Amino acid sequence: MELKEVLLKRRSVRKFTDEKVSKEDINELLHAAMSGPSAVNKKPWDFYVITDEKMLEEVRKHCAPFGKFKSPLAIVVCGNLLKALPLNLSSYWVQDCSAATENILLRACDLGLGAVWCGVYPVKASVKSTRKTIGAKAHQVPLNVIFIGHPDGDIPEPRDQYDEKCIHRI
Ligand SMILES: Cc1cc2nc3c(=O)[nH]c(=O)nc-3n(C[C@H](O)[C@H](O)[C@H](O)COP(=O)(O)O)c2cc1C
Repeated sequence: MELKEVLLKRRSVRKFTDEKVSKEDINELLHAAMSGPSAVNKKPWDFYVITDEKMLEEVRKHCAPFGKFKSPLAIVVCGNLLKALPLNLSSYWVQDCSAATENILLRACDLGLGAVWCGVYPVKASVKSTRKTIGAKAHQVPLNVIFIGHPDGDIPEPRDQYDEKCIHRI
């Protein structure tokens, strides 16, 4: 697909078939994630790739308060504070990991998969319960859970949300 087509086609998908996501596609998603930009190229990210049925159930129960979607794959994108910039620059991990997340969503769409970003950070209770559920370390901060799979039923329509009112030409 052309990039422009993917940008407009990417929509949050919350219903998935039972069909597994192939190893090759998972690999593609992770390559897309790590192609993203990051401040000073620190790449302060870790990715928990979850395909185990029991763990997926735990993730649905305990991680993102508004992310309870049944999918054959979930990726938890974590900021790694040991790899992040120092001191007051460390928060750039949020932007770095958000860019990685968007790359996953776009590549998923490009591959004919569906996905939805479900927020974890900055809700402290969700960060704590997600970390515990997936066994992440104290220096890993879960940003989100991305539920991914083959869309079941109609995918939301592509749309262009361009709004001239948001543009300030100076
Ligand atoms: C930071 C962030 C957190 C989000 N958290 C959730 C969530 O917890 N549950 C959910 O169903 N969707 C979540 N979404 C998806 C948004 O609801 C969705 O992107 C938005 O409604 C626009 O729809 P679209 O993705 O189809 O363009 C989140 C998106 C972002 C960027």
